[in-house]
Amino acid sequence: MSASRFEGKVALVSGAASGIGRSTALRLAQEGASLLISDINSEALAATEAEIKALGAAVVAFAFDVADPEQCRAAIAKAVAEFGKLDVLCNIAGFAKAKHLTDISDLEWQTMMNVNLSSVFYMSKAAIPHLLETKGCIVNMASSAGLEGQVYNSMYCASKAGVVMLTKSMAIEFAKKGVRVNSVCPGAVSTPLTSNFELPENCDMDLLSKLFPLMDAAQPEEIAAAVAYLCSSEARFITGAALPIDGGQTAG
Ligand SMILES: NC(=O)c1ccc[n+]([C@@H]2O[C@H](COP(=O)([O-])OP(=O)(O)OC[C@H]3O[C@@H](n4cnc5c(N)ncnc54)[C@H](O)[C@@H]3O)[C@@H](O)[C@H]2O)c1
Repeated sequence: MSASRFEGKVALVSGAASGIGRSTALRLAQEGASLLISDINSEALAATEAEIKALGAAVVAFAFDVADPEQCRAAIAKAVAEFGKLDVLCNIAGFAKAKHLTDISDLEWQTMMNVNLSSVFYMSKAAIPHLLETKGCIVNMASSAGLEGQVYNSMYCASKAGVVMLTKSMAIEFAKKGVRVNSVCPGAVSTPLTSNFELPENCDMDLLSKLFPLMDAAQPEEIAAAVAYLCSSEARFITGAALPIDGGQTAG
C-alpha cells in the first residue's frame, strides 16, 4: 500500500458516521486525503471527525439527509469552498429493509429509492463539474443485491441495481473526459446495517437459505480498501465496473 495515494486530494464521503463509510473516510485520511464527511447522524459523524483529526488529516463534517437534493448540492459546494476543489466522491450512505413485496408501502418504496439511488444522482450531478476540472472519480456503494434478486429484498435490490446502472451509464458518458465512475457490490459486511437487519414474519426458509453467503461476513475495512483502490490512480483504467466483494455469493 502506498502511504500517500491521496496526498493533496480532496474527498467527500457520505455515510461516514458508521460502517463502510466511516472505514472509507479513515482509510482515505490515512493515505493523505483532506475530507468532507457527511451523514444524517450528526453525533456519530462528530466521532468520525474526531478520529480523522487524530490522524492529522484536514476534515470538515456536514450533517444532512442525502435524500434532499438541495442539501446534496450544498455538500458538494461546501467541500469545494473549504478545500478549493474535489477529486473523489464516495456515495456510501444507504440503508436496507426486508419486507414481503405486498407489505411495502408507497412511502417506504419512495424513501428507499430516494436515499439509496436518487442521492447518488443528486451528489454525482453536483460533483461532475468539479471532477471534470480535477480528472477525479466517483465510487458508489451498490451491493450484491444490485447484481442478483434476493427474496424479501425487492426494494433494496431495485435501488442497488439502479446504482449499478447509473454508475455504468455515467462511466461511459464521462470516460473520454477523464472522470472515472465505479461501484462496489459487497455481500454481507459486519456493520450496524447487518446486525440490525430484521427478516419479515412468515419467511419461506427454503428461499432464504439461498441468500446465505459462502464465506463469513467481510469487515468494513476490507470494503474501504477496495474503494480506496478504485479511487486511486492505480485504477486509472477501471471505469464502469461493478466490483463484487461477496466471498463468491454472486459468482454462480
Ligand atoms: N453491511 C452490508 O452488509 C452491506 C452490503 C452491501 C452494501 N452495503 C451498503 O453499504 C452502505 C453503507 O452501509 P453500512 O453497512 O456501512 O451501514 P451503516 O448503517 O453502518 O452505515 C450507513 C450510514 O449511512 C447513514 N445514512 C442512512 N440514511 C441516510 C440518509 N438519508 N442521509 C445521510 N446518511 C444516511 C447512516 O446514518 C449510517 O451512518 C449502504 O449504502 C449499504 O446499502 C452494505
